[in-house]
Amino acid sequence: MGITVTNLSDAIGAEVSGVELSRPLDEATVADIRRAWLDNVILVFRDQQVSDDDQERFCRYLGELEVVRSARAADSAHPSVLLITNVRDTGRTTALEDGEMMFHYDQCYYEHPAMGSTLFAMEVPETGGNTLFASCYAAYESLNDAMKRRLEGLRALNYYDYARDPTVRPKSLNPDAPQWAHPVVRTHPETGRKALFVNRLMTIRIEGMAADESDALLEALFERIEDPTHRYEHVWRTGDMVIWDNRCSVHARTYFSPDDRRMMRRVTIRETQPVV
Ligand SMILES: [Fe+2]
Repeated sequence: MGITVTNLSDAIGAEVSGVELSRPLDEATVADIRRAWLDNVILVFRDQQVSDDDQERFCRYLGELEVVRSARAADSAHPSVLLITNVRDTGRTTALEDGEMMFHYDQCYYEHPAMGSTLFAMEVPETGGNTLFASCYAAYESLNDAMKRRLEGLRALNYYDYARDPTVRPKSLNPDAPQWAHPVVRTHPETGRKALFVNRLMTIRIEGMAADESDALLEALFERIEDPTHRYEHVWRTGDMVIWDNRCSVHARTYFSPDDRRMMRRVTIRETQPVV
């Protein structure tokens, strides 16, 4: 036995078959999945039947669980489980999200952003609500040497206000919303590769730089990250489990109709190392 890993695009993503995530995994399989995850950044497991407990167990193979920080907890038995859905009144810990969302790193407005995240598809729209993943390794590696030198040592403020429209960049900042400055380029603690660590939804400005210059530089970096050659678009099916490495990839959601139901279960893996 053993897993089969099939690339989903040139830059990022692989589908893994030969695994049932509803069951405990042996050590060799976990090691193979970790290797495939570090190599491919995004892993897709199709046709899974995964409970809250199963999803938590899977995340624990790769790290520690992060407790939900962004929503009022409604589920003390599963403090790491968050439903991301447009369905109101689920009775669970829920982030209400409709339609489109721009590219972002999860939780990069905290000192310790997520190390990785898993999404399990419980209900999916007829069309749309796809997730675009982009490799921030590939984006960094595509820069010329002069630009890489220019970015050395730069830090940028990341910020997110949950009450805001996730399809536009904010014009002003709410001081009560979470925010944190991180390096513009970070080094992945396990692979040693460098990745751009900015994103269109949450990165506001580069520290110590004039606003015009910061805006222009960030826009150039966002365009580089979002370049279609650095991306994989995941079209969800019910029963899909996807895990992404949040240290070197961003993700975005395409539009879906408010008349359709979309319900994803998220469990996040905690980052234990500083962002450098
Ligand atoms: Fe996200």
